Amino acid sequence: MTYAIEVRGLVKRYGDKAALAGVDFAAPPGTVLGVLGPNGAGKTTAVRILATLVSPDEGRAAVGGHDVVKAPAVVRKLTGLTGQYASVDEKLTGRQNLVMSGRLLGMSRATARGRAAALLGEFGLEDAADRAAGSYSGGMRRRLDLAVSLVGRPSIVFMDEPTTGLDPRARADLWRIVREQVAGGATVLLTTQYLEEADQLADEIVLIDHGVVAARGTPGELKARAGDRRLEIRPEHDAEKAELILAEVTGLTPHRGENGLLSVPLLNPAVSLAVFLRLEEAGVSLAEHAVRRPTLDEAFLALTDTTTSGRTP
Ligand SMILES: Nc1ncnc2c1ncn2[C@@H]1O[C@H](COP(=O)(O)OP(=O)(O)OP(=O)(O)O)[C@@H](O)[C@H]1O
Ligand SMILES: [Mg+2]
Repeated sequence: MTYAIEVRGLVKRYGDKAALAGVDFAAPPGTVLGVLGPNGAGKTTAVRILATLVSPDEGRAAVGGHDVVKAPAVVRKLTGLTGQYASVDEKLTGRQNLVMSGRLLGMSRATARGRAAALLGEFGLEDAADRAAGSYSGGMRRRLDLAVSLVGRPSIVFMDEPTTGLDPRARADLWRIVREQVAGGATVLLTTQYLEEADQLADEIVLIDHGVVAARGTPGELKARAGDRRLEIRPEHDAEKAELILAEVTGLTPHRGENGLLSVPLLNPAVSLAVFLRLEEAGVSLAEHAVRRPTLDEAFLALTDTTTSGRTP
């Protein structure tokens, strides 16, 4: 099979620092690949290499079967890029931005205007079409930026943190647009720091940390690797005592969540009873307790923890 996106042994150095230290991933056509990772992981670097904006130091990257170094012009024709650093001209209106992109791609004025009108409609930007893009809200800016990247009907779209900083409603709008693109046959590589976003959209997730792949799999597989179920407790007081008891009974280090929530993987359901009994004996009362499946967030933390603990600085 020819992958829509394929990266093998990719290395990119900046000075003596490797932004990418040998990364492999691939996406079959018509799928969403989620590239997940914390700040500085190397996500944008990977996207920039795929979009032919920078060249790799080692390894290979191919888009639609075309090597990004040997055939950059072909790759650019096939792809659209919507960036962390938006490519919209703030002084131009939304419509003008779209028409200009079409013209730059070699469309006639009429074709470019038609394409612009269609995209403005599709992305809910008709009312704002003739206002300067500089006056758009964050969500509208992202939608326009994404629309600009789709003017040339690319079959492969790179989206670098398309929803960072957006409110939940604007994020949901963008998710819908991504799903529509994929339903229309496009392949999407989406970088994100949001686990929920990867969970929602990605067929396959590659977790990058410090320039290497820390884990990969479907969202379900990654969640499964974080442990089956988790026991969560929120002590009303004596948080330290509760944490000690939890650690002693389970033999695991509890995860400290928000608002004093403590959790551990629960390998054996009977263990939760032992925990409750010990807490009762120690006079620790609980504001809340639950047994539930892990979120992708916990999988992410668990998986990035194991890769960093084994590394010397
Ligand atoms: N042009 C550059 N010059 C020097 N260092 C760079 C350059 N671009 C990236 N880096 C470094 O490479 C590493 C990876 O950066 P990159 O932007 O790819 O991370 P990222 O995963 O996109 O992070 P973020 O989530 O913050 O966008 C970082 O340590 C960064 O400082
Ligand atoms: Mg980035």
